[in-house]
Amino acid sequence: MTDPVARLAAPMTAPALAVTGSTGRLGGRVARRLAAAGVPQRLVAREPARAPVLEGAAAVQADYADPEAGRRALAGVRTLFMVSAAEASDRVDQHRCFIDAAAAAGVRHVVYTSFSAAAPDATFTLGRDHWATEQHLRVSGMDWTFLRDNLYLDLVPQFADDEGVIRAPAGDGRFAGVALDDVADVAVEVLADPGAHRGSVHELTGPEPLTLHAMAEIVTRVSGRTVRYQEESLEEAYRSRASYGAPDWLVEAWVSTYVAIASGELARVSRDVEHVTGHPATSLETMLRG
Ligand SMILES: NC(=O)c1ccc[n+]([C@@H]2O[C@H](COP(=O)([O-])OP(=O)(O)OC[C@H]3O[C@@H](n4cnc5c(N)ncnc54)[C@H](OP(=O)(O)O)[C@@H]3O)[C@@H](O)[C@H]2O)c1
Repeated sequence: MTDPVARLAAPMTAPALAVTGSTGRLGGRVARRLAAAGVPQRLVAREPARAPVLEGAAAVQADYADPEAGRRALAGVRTLFMVSAAEASDRVDQHRCFIDAAAAAGVRHVVYTSFSAAAPDATFTLGRDHWATEQHLRVSGMDWTFLRDNLYLDLVPQFADDEGVIRAPAGDGRFAGVALDDVADVAVEVLADPGAHRGSVHELTGPEPLTLHAMAEIVTRVSGRTVRYQEESLEEAYRSRASYGAPDWLVEAWVSTYVAIASGELARVSRDVEHVTGHPATSLETMLRG
């Protein structure tokens, strides 16, 4: 049997695979893994000069909100790895625009990074954006695969403020956060053989659901920086975030991240990381020990 990554790496005239988000954490990991495996790729970036310089990779310009640039950037591409855009009030419109551009350019399969428990009434308000994007892909005429990522474990240390306190309305809720490296490993497997993942929704979680108390203890133990969790009421959560001067929808997104943890919506553990990659999902402790 031919190895799927080796098959993808077979010589071809122009990269049939496009990767977005390569200037960021997740897309960058995926692009570097593909390059290391010898897979040619097109890096679609808002500012191509900031895309990583990688063997076999060519950077092209497109913002999700620019349909012309999207069509140009994706001409000749068969498979697209689409990282969800930065938080914005019109993010769903940006996603729809880029998906339409992909379909118009002839893309056949889109692998989209969605979010755990994406639903029209998801407690985490941005989970509703992901659901709307998934719906658009389902009727796009293209094949699709959704990677529904739980919260990234890599960001947990950043939940704490300058005093080392995670102040949040998460109650005693747990979440099964996933390591970015695991998401990237899954993405590379899926991109190597997209047909095998056509119409699949992969739930990407870590190995165990933990409370913020437990996560704070682990961060303290591994990093040496004392971190603790202090539960906030909803009212306190809105008040403590008001000083940032962010628009209401963004404050709602921040607060609802933790309310979603409290609700239990993000606690379910899935074995999909292991099923797709063949290795177990990484724990917070292992990820922090790097
Ligand atoms: N599951 C979680 O815990 C979690 C946490 C945070 C974010 N997310 C979501 O997951 C995505 C990937 O996470 P990450 O950590 O890799 O984020 P990141 O490091 O901020 O990278 C985001 C990437 O998306 C690109 N991008 C953003 N908006 C775009 C647009 N309108 N058009 C084209 N490209 C755009 C950025 O390009 P530029 O360099 O040009 O900005 C960057 O390359 C995020 O974008 C966000 O939607 C999930």
